[in-house]
Amino acid sequence: MKALVTGGAGFIGSHLVDHLVESGFEVVVVDDLSMGAISNIKHWEQITIYVADVCDDKFMQQLLADERPDYIYFLAAIASVADSIERPAETHAVNHTAVFNLLEHIRQIRLPIKQFLFTSSAAVYGNLPELPKREDSRVAPVSPYAIDKYATERFVLAYGELYDLPTVCVRFFNVYGPRQNPSSPYSGVLSILTDCLKTQRPFTLFGDGTQTRDFVYVSDVIKALWLITEHQVQHEVINIANGLETSLNGIIQMYQEIAGQQLEIKRAEQRGGEVDHSVASIGKLARLNYESEWPLRRGLTKYWEGECEHARS
Ligand code: NAD
Ligand code: UD1
Repeated sequence: MKALVTGGAGFIGSHLVDHLVESGFEVVVVDDLSMGAISNIKHWEQITIYVADVCDDKFMQQLLADERPDYIYFLAAIASVADSIERPAETHAVNHTAVFNLLEHIRQIRLPIKQFLFTSSAAVYGNLPELPKREDSRVAPVSPYAIDKYATERFVLAYGELYDLPTVCVRFFNVYGPRQNPSSPYSGVLSILTDCLKTQRPFTLFGDGTQTRDFVYVSDVIKALWLITEHQVQHEVINIANGLETSLNGIIQMYQEIAGQQLEIKRAEQRGGEVDHSVASIGKLARLNYESEWPLRRGLTKYWEGECEHARS
């Protein structure tokens, strides 16, 4: 079995690639290394890596024809809400058009895929009051990132139904863990917090810290993705989360306790396009026999210990 992972050198993608290789898959990665790194991939010497842009349509078309993957996991994206507000046109090209074009090539060449999995986001739910978010909850995307994710989901599912393609969409909530790149001001908050704790730099808190998120450890995410592949799930949207709502103030407090350090916190205005409260219902995932192995404190402790070990080696 051959799997194509776009964004496979990134945070979540590299963990998925490791798992696929360890499960006996032949793996092909396309990543432009804008946020990812080949060194993220444990088994990089066993896979084929194309350092390329998923928006390069000609390249992607040729890649499909040459590699003919059985499974496609589309993770390449500009993954930041705030970045999409700064650069809506650039992020739209990656987060929407590139996925649509790939689907269209699959349809045109009638590639006999076993699964096409698109990684969407909890951001699609926006700021509507009902919590926890179920897959059939109303959506109200408020940023270019969230709008692109939702529009792409609709195409992925419609292509599945209309052209009989085994497509599925997952909505990740806030994923954290090793290899999340903290280098951009738009990086995931837990990678930035980790970096601030490691380097004793001040942390900028946007808003009053009462905003909530559902933080999920990356190993649990890979376990969920694998269940979705094993069960050959298609024509569905599935939340991937922990099912626990935590405020930013709460997670900062917990992380300081784990690290045994106090952070210097600078206050700044809330960012535009923000979701105030987020937590998932994970009933659909549980029906695939999913159980979390990484409750928040355990996951954060593992992440912190890994970072300290890394710094020592
Ligand atoms: P990431 O930035 O680590 O991974 C994305 C990868 O895509 C990076 O390696 C980057 O170099 C690559 N990439 C970006 N633009 C590209 C392009 N034009 N061509 C080729 N490669 C390109 O982010 P991540 O957190 O691993 O996110 C993976 C996916 O999951 C994304 O689609 C993201 O939107 C989605 N997601 C992530 C989270 C989260 O909390 N991390 C939550 C919801 C959804
Ligand atoms: C994150 C993901 C996004 C995903 C979404 C799903 C990243 C970069 N973003 O967006 O891909 O679709 O979850 O829910 O992985 N914050 C600070 N200081 C900082 C950085 C962030 O206070 O230095 C705050 C933000 O304003 C926000 C919260 O922390 O309120 C979380 O921010 P962030 O990690 O960027 O996550 P989301 O915007 O939820």
